[in-house]
Amino acid sequence: MSTTRILETVSRLRCISCAATPDSASQDFRCTTCGDLLEFSFPGWTSDASAFDPAALKSLWQNRRTSRENLDQSGVWRFRELLPHIPNLEEHAITLGEGNTPLYRLPRCARAAGVENLLAKHQGMNPTASFKDTGMTFAASSAHQGKFRWVACASTGNTSASMAAYAARGNMHSLVLIPEGQISWGKLSQSLDYGALTCQLRTDFDGCVQILNDLVRQKPVYLLNSVNPYRIEGQKTAAIELMEQLAWEPPDHIIVPGGNLGNSSAIGKALIEMRALKLISRLPKLSIIQAQGANPFYRCVHEFGGKKLEPMTADTLATAIRIGNPASWKKALRVLQATGGEVEEVSEVEIATAKAEIGADGIGCEPASAVTLAGLKKLRRSGFVKPGEAVVLILTGHILKDPDFTIKFHRGDLFGGTGAGTANDSEVAQAKYLQRAPIVLDANLGAVIAALEAAERNS
Ligand code: F0G
Repeated sequence: MSTTRILETVSRLRCISCAATPDSASQDFRCTTCGDLLEFSFPGWTSDASAFDPAALKSLWQNRRTSRENLDQSGVWRFRELLPHIPNLEEHAITLGEGNTPLYRLPRCARAAGVENLLAKHQGMNPTASFKDTGMTFAASSAHQGKFRWVACASTGNTSASMAAYAARGNMHSLVLIPEGQISWGKLSQSLDYGALTCQLRTDFDGCVQILNDLVRQKPVYLLNSVNPYRIEGQKTAAIELMEQLAWEPPDHIIVPGGNLGNSSAIGKALIEMRALKLISRLPKLSIIQAQGANPFYRCVHEFGGKKLEPMTADTLATAIRIGNPASWKKALRVLQATGGEVEEVSEVEIATAKAEIGADGIGCEPASAVTLAGLKKLRRSGFVKPGEAVVLILTGHILKDPDFTIKFHRGDLFGGTGAGTANDSEVAQAKYLQRAPIVLDANLGAVIAALEAAERNS
């Protein structure tokens, strides 16, 4: 059966606020009528959803797992029926075999959180070690199709690493704007090796975004931040792949970190579309977790009833989500409301503790990803998540993205600083039992055996 007979994919750009439907997007991906964000809609899906055969789509995607074709081997392009069409795709697709990420059971974390059924979809197992690759393969391919010479982004480090890699693979130049001194070395080193022009600006992430927006209005540079709706479409596939891994039986809860709020918007959009296409029978609740020091969306929902988002100066050791003015807050609010999810905020010590707990399950992740487990614990305590409910955490970045944070935590140095690095002593003491500082010994067998025996006694 041909793919077009299974599902006809006609997409259209639409403004999320005024519903304008421009034929093409402007350089800053903002609606030229009202200035709000654009998204892709698929008019045919809702008008004629009953004509589609969900089982045929599922088996088409399943069969592609054994295909030798480049696109079929990607965990993004394998689901291309649910993505907008890119003309002459074979010529323009830039793929590094992204997606196809594992779904792990987290038994120790489940006990710590007080739930029986806890899974983690580890998007840090992507080619550049973060979830950004799923959106980047799609948006970078669209830049290539548009014959752009330069692509650019503002970033807290993962978007830039991913963009630089995909630009390099597609023979495009990339410009990275990052806040000076506020991103991890691991992420910075990636964009250097992948050949980006890397500018460390003396501002924060939100300041970098402003300059980038002004730049793309003046220069023929393709914007690859998550306001670019192609990024959102690619990132949808994490949720599609997750449902496939769960045999299309949705969990009760999906929990994601919230920064610029593109990822939560993408996962929510995928869930809503899969429900409309009868690929799944019900919607999981999608909850979003922010760091307390970077919580504009939490405040938007809990203080302002979702009516407005007040930008703030953000501060957290989870530098990936140190964002005070999230671009996609209206999209995220919509999916929160559609799925009945919650927004939580978690402290620095809660983040560090949760990160070490995920590590102790043999998985590991970067600090921003660990807000999911920290948030789950709070949602359990508030009763929003019930002990018997199935929960999936979306881990967004790899443990090796930010080894500085990890080493400082285990040495007990993480909370000695100022700003986000301050925490009260009793909270810090609660995390002590997870700390495993390296020990320096003389090079003799007796010393090592003594250390082993001491560890055994304490275990
Ligand atoms: N987790 C990690 C590891 C991230 O890098 C980010 C965002 C998020 C979570 C939050 O996702 O912004 O879609 O809500 N990083 C961006 C960057 C902003 O530039 O790398 P979001």
